[in-house]
Amino acid sequence: MDANEPEVERRDDVMASNRLQVDSSSGAPAVPLVIGAKESAPAPPTEVVFELLDLNVYYGETLAVRGVNLKIHKNVITAMIGPSGCGKSTIVRTLNRMNDSVSGFRVSGEVNYHGHSIYASGVDPVEVRRRIGMVFQRPNPFPKSIYDNIAWAPRILGLKRDLDARVEQALRGAALWDEVKDRLRSSALGLSGGQQQRLCIARAIAIEPEVLLLDEPASALDPISTASIEDLMQDLKQTYTIVIVTHNMQQAARVAERTAFFSLDDAGDGKRAGVLVEYDETATLFTRPADERTRGYVTGRFG
Ligand SMILES: Nc1ncnc2c1ncn2[C@@H]1O[C@H](COP(=O)(O)OP(=O)(O)OP(=O)(O)O)[C@@H](O)[C@H]1O
Ligand SMILES: [Mg+2]
Repeated sequence: MDANEPEVERRDDVMASNRLQVDSSSGAPAVPLVIGAKESAPAPPTEVVFELLDLNVYYGETLAVRGVNLKIHKNVITAMIGPSGCGKSTIVRTLNRMNDSVSGFRVSGEVNYHGHSIYASGVDPVEVRRRIGMVFQRPNPFPKSIYDNIAWAPRILGLKRDLDARVEQALRGAALWDEVKDRLRSSALGLSGGQQQRLCIARAIAIEPEVLLLDEPASALDPISTASIEDLMQDLKQTYTIVIVTHNMQQAARVAERTAFFSLDDAGDGKRAGVLVEYDETATLFTRPADERTRGYVTGRFG
């Protein structure tokens, strides 16, 4: 299941008072980062949705991700950043068993969702993906009408009652309704890239998951559509727990309360595996990182 993108008005004025120019003498980002509305008063921790314990992920004999311990909190936007190949996509895809069909894919350690292992025997991966939706880098609408894109998963799951209302609610939730309400029967492929990405988000939320996993959802979009997606995320986090992978550090700084920085480390045999270097409140990670590798990355000296 995938998702789409939204469209929104700029939050610049809202954010202006929270604009944080990082002190370059402390080794902070070379470009000013705008930290979201939460840097001054970290919210109290919410319920833990995911807990990763000593997670290793393999593709065949290759260890792609090593020893990750991480808690993801409810109704919080958590960003994952780090250089290409450090395992960000691998980890988010591990969170909803999206890699099950990848030959050689294997995990060790624990991926607990509300205290239950999603890789335990007897757990239905389809049910996992019903609760934990995903949106990919490239919008991938089905070659169907806008309506049928949204209605597809509810129909499969037997959620056929009040389908029109469900479709409308999902499109409203993804801030797309007003733009498409008069052409619901038109092909989704006729939408712009930004609209298609919001359609994919609408498709993901149509079955009311708890979690949305967004793997670089805005990397193929123009700045206006990107701003829309970011604003949409702020709305969606009232309802959903959101994990976003992004290469855009400004984006992580703008949208996420918490940020995890991953990097590549020597796996012991000369091969490099992805490791979690640092995980903290976003403002802390960007302005007062504890680890030199984080500092190097967020200041653009590395990665
Ligand atoms: N389906 C796969 N089969 C085999 N190896 C894979 C597969 N997917 C990813 N890998 C390997 O796992 C490692 C981590 O890849 P992953 O795509 O998770 O990184 P990433 O951090 O998302 O990178 P990027 O920022 O470029 O998207 C890489 O070495 C990659 O080659
Ligand atoms: Mg990736």
